Amino acid sequence: MTSNTPLPATFKPSGPLTGTISVPGDKSISHRALIFSALAVGKSRIAGLLEGEDVLATADALRMMGAKIEKKDDVWTVHGVGVGGLMQPDNVLEMGNSGTSTRLLMGLIASHPISATFTGDASLTKRPMGRVIEPLSRMGADIRARETADHKECLPLTVNGLCPAVPIEYRLPVPSAQVKSAILLAALNTPGITRIVEPVLTRDHSETMLRGFGAQISVETDAEGCRVISLTGEAELQPQKIKVPGDPSSAAFPVVAALIVPGSDIIIENVGINPTRAGLYEVLQNMGGDIRFAKRRTVGGEPVADIHVKHSPLTGIDVPADIAPSMIDEFPVLFVAAAMAQGETTTRGLHELRVKESDRLAQMAKGLGLLGVSLTEQDDGLTIRGSGGKPLPGGRVKPVIETALDHRIAMSFAVAGLATESGLSIDDIRPIETSFPGFDELVTKLAAT
Ligand code: S3P
Repeated sequence: MTSNTPLPATFKPSGPLTGTISVPGDKSISHRALIFSALAVGKSRIAGLLEGEDVLATADALRMMGAKIEKKDDVWTVHGVGVGGLMQPDNVLEMGNSGTSTRLLMGLIASHPISATFTGDASLTKRPMGRVIEPLSRMGADIRARETADHKECLPLTVNGLCPAVPIEYRLPVPSAQVKSAILLAALNTPGITRIVEPVLTRDHSETMLRGFGAQISVETDAEGCRVISLTGEAELQPQKIKVPGDPSSAAFPVVAALIVPGSDIIIENVGINPTRAGLYEVLQNMGGDIRFAKRRTVGGEPVADIHVKHSPLTGIDVPADIAPSMIDEFPVLFVAAAMAQGETTTRGLHELRVKESDRLAQMAKGLGLLGVSLTEQDDGLTIRGSGGKPLPGGRVKPVIETALDHRIAMSFAVAGLATESGLSIDDIRPIETSFPGFDELVTKLAAT
């Protein structure tokens, strides 16, 4: 973060949101575009890269390991070092708030003959890393992490890579695209075939992009219906030209804002709508949201569309647990939509939300409670009784929402603020810079047009 001092902000009730906007590039695809390009032999070009702090942390770390990464005229150029060609970094890798940078780069280093120490901010250093340490250790990496009082393995940690590493067959115990991608990255420089069994489908950008970069990767379904991803190392990656689509997880905020602010009618251009990411849109449509996808097309192997959203009366629903992986980052803003819906919305199977940038179930329950929303917090979900479209009251004292260094909590409450009786304050909006630079200006623009 650029400043050490929290940056509070106020979000007031808004008139109709109108206009055509775009959102910054997809965070997951941006991390992967930089990392795979750094492993290709030669020069890749990336347009639409998210220039948020998380992605810039990945770029800095890759530079420290020998990749040349620069930006000219909105296009990023990466001169890759080739699989196996990473250099020993001279310094600690500072990952800021970014779990994706940390877990993916741990995988990358695990099969190179180098070592690196990772650290991060007060949120990241609390997040569990055992889920990546376990498979990467099986591949031969020696990883020393700080152990917490409750026996969690956390940052700071040091990865001592092994080259050649050992290919493994690994069944993912938690549905996590970060764990899957960490193993795939380690597998790139590991001789033989590494297999990952994925019982629950998670975002598949790594598989799609690795195929595009020329890796030998196949995806099959086994007798139990699990996805089996096989990657043959040692891979040779060819440089690519990549166009990063707008991030559906960022578009989620203006989408929900338009649904809950009366009279709104907006278009968000060029948003990725990969089915492994688009669960929120299906749930909102099932709640009665007027959301249409226009100009559907494929860009760089990813489905993309313009999203047209109009204000809609929403009805609470029972959100099935099996849709969670395709909208894992969107629950905070779904809870805001649920708070404005008619009737009850139930969610479950969301244990993972407790180990994101913050404990998102606890932070959302606390903040929505301050706004006067009736809800129940369970171990693995929230049950929310909505206002039926009435502005959220917030009580006599203007509430101050605590964001706990979590960008998505900050943006969810910024959206909620637009539908309050008298506004709300957020204690610190700096974390928004990790994934959505320009968020505040965009909200102002939508409210002003
Ligand atoms: C991501 C995967 C998800 C998601 C995160 C980005 C990725 O995390 O929450 O924001 O780019 O692979 P998990 O793998 O922990 O589910």
